[in-house]
Amino acid sequence: MTLPRSYIAGCGSYLPERRVSNEELAQTIDTSDEWIVSRTGIKERRIAADGELTSDLAYKAAIRALEHAQMTADDLDLVILATTTPDRTFPSTATRVQAMLNMKSGAAFDVQAVCSGFIFALSIADNFIRAGQAETVLVIGAETFSRILDWEDRTTCVLFGDGAGAVVLRKEHIEADSDVDSREQRGILSTHIHSDGNYSNLLYVDGGPSSTQTTGHVRMIGREVFRHAVVNLAWVVDEALKANNYQRSDIDWLVPHQANKRILDSTARKLGIPEEKVVITVDRHANTSAASIPLALDEAVRDGRIKQGELILLEAMGGGLTWGAALVRW
Ligand code: UT7
Repeated sequence: MTLPRSYIAGCGSYLPERRVSNEELAQTIDTSDEWIVSRTGIKERRIAADGELTSDLAYKAAIRALEHAQMTADDLDLVILATTTPDRTFPSTATRVQAMLNMKSGAAFDVQAVCSGFIFALSIADNFIRAGQAETVLVIGAETFSRILDWEDRTTCVLFGDGAGAVVLRKEHIEADSDVDSREQRGILSTHIHSDGNYSNLLYVDGGPSSTQTTGHVRMIGREVFRHAVVNLAWVVDEALKANNYQRSDIDWLVPHQANKRILDSTARKLGIPEEKVVITVDRHANTSAASIPLALDEAVRDGRIKQGELILLEAMGGGLTWGAALVRW
């Protein structure tokens, strides 16, 4: 017997050229490199150029992912783009990327789950494939978060950066006989997504087409978000492991959403995962919201850290509140 499953056929990412250091920020707001590094682990972030849009970053990451998968846009039947910073209120940024890729068929839509957006998009794509409604899906996380920051609010503006990452998910059939361990075969083993709208006031944008008719700026009660992040992430990671009958010690690589080095350290400590098994980019990228996981994944795949057959755990938590995890056999 065989079962349909999706696997990651290729990944790619893109960062805008301009690097902004903590020292540069400290020239315009009351902050310091010492405070930012000690509280967050962030040393610098990339900021998109004037006129460089979320779709531009997404397109470049998508091209790299397609090249890595040795595919072209003609092979795609779905584009799912996770973003909180779309080019326009509508149409979706995904349809813009679809046009840039010169796709003449298929469907494209955006997903909004803020920093958990990539996990949500991956989960949707995986389920489309398992249900037989798609064969090859481009999943993108792309953000120009710099455009929704209040650059006079030191409690938020130092934390975020711009960037994009993408993966190509492909359908294949795995052996599902009793003498074959399906967990050992490559692919997305499971995805787990959650939200609790009761905590929407902890992290939000104070604008929007329906409420203020303005774009608005990011507002966050950081300490509270931090507290929820540590609890929810450990919980959802255990949920993913239990669903596949794995132990924490079975994880080869943790590829987390990159919000704060202290959250990464705390989650890894709780899980008993050594620091060298955690892919960390927050020092150079800051928090790129939906883009952070595919950016980190791409880096660790291309530099050879992540190898075929290894067990990869992706996890994220963000505004909503939303959180989720995915267990992947590479
Ligand atoms: O990706 C989505 C999820 N987001 C997150 O996971 C973010 C979670 N939260 C965090 O990462 C941390 O809470 C922050 C990095 C945002 C803040 O760190 P903290 O250790 O929780 O600091 P705090 O908010 O308790 O602020 C401590 C002090 C305050 O001063 P007082 O009131 O104690 O005098 C702040 O005003 O640090 C001050 N402060 C700053 N000082 C210098 C806040 N931001 C800055 C800054 N530079 N940029």
